[in-house]
Amino acid sequence: MKIVILLGPPGSGKGTQAKRLQQTFGLAHLATGDMLRAEIASGNALGRRVKSIMDAGELVPDHILVALIRSRIARPECRHGFILDGFPRTVPQAEAFDRLIAEEQLPRPIVIEFTVFEPELVNRLSGRFTCQTCGASYHDHFHRPRVEGMCDFCGGHEFVRRADDQPEAIRTRFRAYREQTAPLLDYYKRTGDIPLEVDGMADIDGVTRQIEAVLGGVAQR
Ligand code: AP5
Repeated sequence: MKIVILLGPPGSGKGTQAKRLQQTFGLAHLATGDMLRAEIASGNALGRRVKSIMDAGELVPDHILVALIRSRIARPECRHGFILDGFPRTVPQAEAFDRLIAEEQLPRPIVIEFTVFEPELVNRLSGRFTCQTCGASYHDHFHRPRVEGMCDFCGGHEFVRRADDQPEAIRTRFRAYREQTAPLLDYYKRTGDIPLEVDGMADIDGVTRQIEAVLGGVAQR
């Protein structure tokens, strides 16, 4: 069983790579941003509570995320392992996840850090669009669907752009990353789960090759 944590700022390619790794390694893809957006789309109480926080680019309270992850990893599709895309995002979330790992006797995570040049990420985010049906991520310049107007993964024809991909929200998301998420790199050094670096500025296939090499070379601890 493998638990993989993808750690990197907004636009570093976590979602793009997680979708590929999910297929290659047979791991479930747990994307907390997608889960929260599904709650918003369903119009339930949780969705109504988190919508304005997410649209502004702020982080949703820790206890909501920990509860979401706890319920997801209990599902059968996670029994061979899972990729965490967007979680943990604060030190308290990482501490809560470590308690969960101990309770459920799960293996220690493999932490992959995307190293990136932040100014370039603004271009990535402002050109991003996703398939409304399956959530696959595309880009106006770097990654268009193979057949124009049709999703490579599910054949869907409807595409959407995210409210938090506007300049003001992008700035807030980067600040949240620097202040609340980047400290996780030191946290995982302290726990002994030393983050494994991949160059997130390589092209999409190049990043996939680096991650596959890193994962192939690591026995799950
Ligand atoms: P979330 O949905 O997780 O957003 P994010 O972390 O800001 O990450 P992104 O999805 O924007 O970027 P990505 O790294 O996945 O990049 P992608 O592959 O799409 O979270 C959204 C919000 O939810 C948060 O702000 C917060 O409010 C809330 N939230 C979620 N989790 C939370 C938590 N744990 N705690 C609290 N709040 C939480 O790529 C971006 C673009 O670049 C795409 O167009 C892609 O095609 C392109 N691209 C990707 N890789 C490359 C490449 N190598 N070269 C060129 N283009 C590339």
